Amino acid sequence: MAVSRRSFVHTLGAGAAGLAISGRGREGAFPGGETLFAQGAKPLLLSSNENPLGCHPDVLAAVTGSMPAAGRYAFAAADEVSELVATRHGVKREHVLLGSGSTQILRTCTEVFTSKTSGLVAAIPAYEECATYATLIGHPVTGVKLDASLKMDLDALQKASQGAGLVFFCNPNNPVGTAVNGADTRAYLTTLLKQSPNTTVLVDEAYFEYATMPGYETMIPLAIENPRVVVARTFSKCFGMAGLRIGYAIGHKDTIAKMEAWDSIDAISIMALQGAKAAMAVPAAWVAAEQRRNAEARAFTAKWFSDRGFTPTDSQTNFLFIDIRRPSKGFREACAKEGVLIGRDFPPYDKTHARISVGTMAEMQRAVKVFDKVLAAPAKATAA
Ligand SMILES: Cc1ncc(COP(=O)(O)O)c(C=O)c1O
Repeated sequence: MAVSRRSFVHTLGAGAAGLAISGRGREGAFPGGETLFAQGAKPLLLSSNENPLGCHPDVLAAVTGSMPAAGRYAFAAADEVSELVATRHGVKREHVLLGSGSTQILRTCTEVFTSKTSGLVAAIPAYEECATYATLIGHPVTGVKLDASLKMDLDALQKASQGAGLVFFCNPNNPVGTAVNGADTRAYLTTLLKQSPNTTVLVDEAYFEYATMPGYETMIPLAIENPRVVVARTFSKCFGMAGLRIGYAIGHKDTIAKMEAWDSIDAISIMALQGAKAAMAVPAAWVAAEQRRNAEARAFTAKWFSDRGFTPTDSQTNFLFIDIRRPSKGFREACAKEGVLIGRDFPPYDKTHARISVGTMAEMQRAVKVFDKVLAAPAKATAA
C-alpha cells in the first residue's frame, strides 16, 4: 500500500498541527491554464517565476551554435563551464558542481545528507523540491512555521535543526519572497554548526540577483570554508534560462566531492553548457537592467495591492506573495479565465495568499486590471 507523503512530515511552531510540506517542488505548472492553451489563447504567464524577457541574445546564439556538437558527449564543455563558474565566484574548480538546474543540486543534497534517522528540516512553506524528494525516499521531513512577517523564524528553525541531516535554507524563500539578512544568517549557521555536528545546511540562492534589501548576502564564502554549508545557484531566473536547465552548487571541496560521487555532471546538455558559458559573459549592464526592470515592475505591483488594502510580503525575488484575503484557488481560477496565470496553492497560506510572478511592466499593468475585476467580485464567488 502506498505510504502517504504526509505521514513523513511533522511540523514545528505554534499552532502548526496538521501542516505539511506538500506539492511538487516544481515551477512550470499552470493550474487552470490548460484550457486556455487548448483554446489557442496566449495567457499571461505569472505562475512560474521566470524572467519574462528570456535570456540574452548571445545565449540564444550560443545555444543554436552548439548544435553541431550535439552528437558528442559534453564532458569537455562541462569542465570548462565548471572552471568559468569557479572564476566567476573567485573559487577553485573543486568547489563547484554543475547540475541540470539547481533542482539536481537540491535533490543530490537531500539524497546525500539526509537519512532515515537524520531528516530534512525546512521552513514551511519553502520551495518543495527537497521535502518532496526526502519524502519519496522515506526520509523524515520537519516543517518550521514562518514568523508574522512570513520570514524564516530563525529561533524556531535553530531548535528544529538540531540533529537534522540537512537544513534547506531557502533565502530568498519561495513562495513567500522574503529574505534573511547576512548577519542573521551567519549567526544562525555559526550556532547550528557548533551545536549540531552532523547537520549540513543547503543555502538556496536561486533569487540572489533579484534581492534588493540592505544587508542581504551570499553564503558562498562560508560554504568554501565550511564542509557543512553548500550554496545552490541557478541560471533559470535572472539569466532567463529556465528551459535550458543548468544550475550549480558551491561548497567545500570535500562536500562537493561527496555530492559529485552521487551525481556527476553528465546530466547537462551541450546546449545548456554553451548557454551558461555565454550567460557568464553577458555585459554587467544587461544584468543590471534586468534587476532594475524586475524591481520596478515588482514595486508597481506591490503598491497596487497595498493601495487597495491587500498586503504583500517584502519580496526580494521576481514574484509577490500577497494576502488577498480569500482562497488562492478561486482567485487563480478566476484570473485564468481572464487569461492571467498565477502560482499554485501554497499551504498553509492557500486560504489567504496568492503568489504572482513579476512580468514586464506592461504585463503587470495588464494583469492588475484583471486582478481588479476578480477582487471586486465577492470572495464567495471565487472561493474554492
Ligand atoms: C528557491 C528555488 N530553488 C530552486 C529552484 C529550481 O530551479 P532550477 O532547477 O530551474 O534551477 C526554484 C525554481 O523555481 C526555486 O524557486
